[in-house]
Amino acid sequence: MKRLLVTGGCGFIGSNFVRLALQQLPDCRLVNLDKLTYAGNHENLKDIANDPRYRFVKGDITDGTLLEKLFAEEQIDTVIHFAAESHVDRSITGPAEFIQTNIVGTFTLLEAARKYWLADNKDSSQCRFLHVSTDEVYGSLGDTGYFTEETPYDPRSPYSSSKASSDHLVNAYFHTYGLPILMTNCSNNYGPYHFPEKLIPLILNNALNGKDLPVYGDGKNVRDWLYVVDHCEAILTVVLNGTIGETYNVGGNNEKQNIEIVTTICDLLDQKVGLLPDGEARRTLIRYVTDRPGHDRRYAIDASKIKKELGWSPAVTFEEGILKTVDWYLDNPEWISAVLDGSYQNYYEEMYGNR
Ligand code: NAD
Ligand code: DAU
Repeated sequence: MKRLLVTGGCGFIGSNFVRLALQQLPDCRLVNLDKLTYAGNHENLKDIANDPRYRFVKGDITDGTLLEKLFAEEQIDTVIHFAAESHVDRSITGPAEFIQTNIVGTFTLLEAARKYWLADNKDSSQCRFLHVSTDEVYGSLGDTGYFTEETPYDPRSPYSSSKASSDHLVNAYFHTYGLPILMTNCSNNYGPYHFPEKLIPLILNNALNGKDLPVYGDGKNVRDWLYVVDHCEAILTVVLNGTIGETYNVGGNNEKQNIEIVTTICDLLDQKVGLLPDGEARRTLIRYVTDRPGHDRRYAIDASKIKKELGWSPAVTFEEGILKTVDWYLDNPEWISAVLDGSYQNYYEEMYGNR
């Protein structure tokens, strides 16, 4: 029986992961520690909230006392560390929180795991600490080439630098203390529960409501898109079967220019819900706007290591995944409106009161 601590389980990827882990690990105990920042939505997990194997704890990964208590109380043997400030644009306007959560928070979590797992006479052979990281630590590619696990780090934004720092700390705890770590560096995810300030859900929501569709710069920046459940499957594969101390790159082998993403969503919505009220196609809403400062031009992952060593490859094509995503947002208008009007932040108090 695995006893998992998932951090950031109320966010986009974390909530998809918690659901998948409970499905695929019938004997597990799963504790979800989340601060419920603007990005944490307790409603994302309302369907599993009463599962007897599941416990939610509202708390901060920079709180070492809380972490030590949780490790001991729940006898945690596996950590899946998602909690982070994750939005590049927010890191440009307000980097402080990124340093605090992504660097100090990861350090505090590593310390708690070290103290609990590597204490005298403890058998830590079954323990695992999986750090969920990003391809952005590798910097920006030109027109050709791919990020491999050997690509030197070259982060450009406060977000990616803070993630790079946390990656280095995680590796340092392996080399210095023998903490049983694993790491994944993944490309852009998309799918259900994606917070509507990131490209795909933002465009979807604006296009549905006839609002402008902001495209940064010339729209030709390239991202490698992966359906979120495929990423979660990769994380489970690595935590169950990966080699301790190793990093695995995870990607969709699915490069798209931003403008292609935007026009695809416009065309799909035109087909599914009809043209705009004035009879125009949704592509007419596209507006080229000032570029993101330091905007990385191209990301592309070489995911051959995880495929060769652990047998993982994406199951969902972009064509399937984007259709599933559009359908999910069309089927869940109340989820989007609760996020947009802020009422999603009351959900935790409504369910648990002020604790
Ligand atoms: P998200 O912003 O949707 O969710 C982050 C979650 O962490 C939220 O629930 C938030 O409340 C929680 N959190 C933030 N600060 C916290 C703190 N101090 N203590 C406890 N909880 C805290 O992020 P996401 O898109 O789901 O990404 C999850 C992880 O995956 C991040 O580490 C991110 O760097 C990484 N990642 C994301 C992508 C992507 O495309 N979204 C790709 C690769 C890697
Ligand atoms: O590559 C993995 C990373 O992907 C993760 O580590 C990050 O946590 C995640 O947020 C994501 O970062 P991006 O910056 O790539 O995602 P975002 O959705 O913000 O932007 C995707 C691309 O679309 C990027 O090139 C910027 C562009 N963009 C974004 C927004 C919000 C626009 O053109 N217009 C927009 O309004």
